[in-house]
Amino acid sequence: MEISVIGCGYLGAVHAASMVELGHEVVGIDVDERRVAALRAGRAPFYEPGFEELLGRTLASGRLRFSADVAEAAGARVHFVCVGTPQRHGEYAADLRFVQAAVESLLGVLEPGQLVVGKSTVPVGTAARLAGLVAEKVPGALLAWNPEFLREGFAVADTLHPDRLVYGLPGGVDGALAERLLDAVYAPILARGTPKVRTDHATAEMVKTAANSFLATKISFINAMAELCEATGADVAQLADAIGYDERIGRRFLNAGLGFGGGCLPKDIRAFMARAGELGADQALTFLREVDNINMRRRIRMVELAREVLDGSLLGKHVAVLGAAFKPDSDDIRDSPALNVAAQLQLQGAVVCVTDPAAIDNSRRQWPQLDYAATAEEAAAGADAVLVLTEWRQYRELDPVAFGRVVAQRRVLDGRNALDREAWTAAGWTYRALGRRTD
Ligand code: UDX
Repeated sequence: MEISVIGCGYLGAVHAASMVELGHEVVGIDVDERRVAALRAGRAPFYEPGFEELLGRTLASGRLRFSADVAEAAGARVHFVCVGTPQRHGEYAADLRFVQAAVESLLGVLEPGQLVVGKSTVPVGTAARLAGLVAEKVPGALLAWNPEFLREGFAVADTLHPDRLVYGLPGGVDGALAERLLDAVYAPILARGTPKVRTDHATAEMVKTAANSFLATKISFINAMAELCEATGADVAQLADAIGYDERIGRRFLNAGLGFGGGCLPKDIRAFMARAGELGADQALTFLREVDNINMRRRIRMVELAREVLDGSLLGKHVAVLGAAFKPDSDDIRDSPALNVAAQLQLQGAVVCVTDPAAIDNSRRQWPQLDYAATAEEAAAGADAVLVLTEWRQYRELDPVAFGRVVAQRRVLDGRNALDREAWTAAGWTYRALGRRTD
């Protein structure tokens, strides 16, 4: 099938190449000419494991092309909208201007019988509004909402092997036609028995925000437990293991530490609260404000912990920060807890050197006043304390004995509860972590 994908960021670029992998012919459209040029040349414009290989393979098939001109989307049977919905400046609500622009630009090429499929995360009610616009301007064209659940770092696997497909369909015969087109797009995935949920526009939009709100709540729950553990001397990692054995609870997303960041969870819970307010249902989501508060408190607590370990003052102390991306296997620094803590430490007088395997360039652009080093050893040379704030494998696997030789003081703060406490302590390090006993 001929497919267009509008917006070639983390979501769209991976989606475009994955649709080729499924057997389709795809054009990816993006307004950013540099991004289009990189993708055409087979270069990933962002760090995502496995994506560059997939891009190379699918470009070589001759069925994938990229363009900055939406006219190239003409003739495609299905048009996926994969643009960003960032938080609006100074507000909680989502900024829908890119989604609006993408759909409006498609109106010029859209024909009756073709399907527009929204994948972006949008406030509930957006799809119905856009479906009205499409129906008015191009009678006979359809709109469905098909949210995407991919995680950065696992984007390729999540796109090719999703755990479920959610179709938000229009009513009546239009719904049946849209479903048939989506089934044809996803045929190889459906053939594996992947669950499919058919529903209306509003439910499909809410599935995405509800899922992200649940995940954020789970993380903040364990981080609230970490606060209590700090107050009582209990150990949050053992607590998480013990409650996680209960299948109803489950151990995943119960890793206490610096909390959640990134381009999705923080802004999605805020946009969800804003939308609930507009709908007169704000009380239903006031708990998400607390989820957000607990999450942001972890960053402040980390700075306090660093001050404590550094004998009560950050002034002039050399601090190495290992990790700047919001999570490992990503170069994404949007609302990164690690970078937020690094910047706060610097603003409060510490001399901070940051390292990250993938996110240094992005970090330097946002925080040029921090020092950067290529490796953990360089960042930690002569440091008074080392903070591990993003749990990249190379930091988890550091040898505490050898690493201990480069620092001035063997003090490590494990912001992600990712290090082997016993090994670090045995190597003479003072080990501190959020929600863990100090012994
Ligand atoms: C998330 C959702 O998981 C995904 O389904 C959705 O499509 C987009 O948003 P992503 O932002 O890529 O994906 O990252 P995720 O793996 O969910 O992690 C989000 C944040 O939570 C990271 O900062 C991570 O470090 C943190 N986290 C995650 C924890 O603090 N503890 C955990 O136990 C898990």
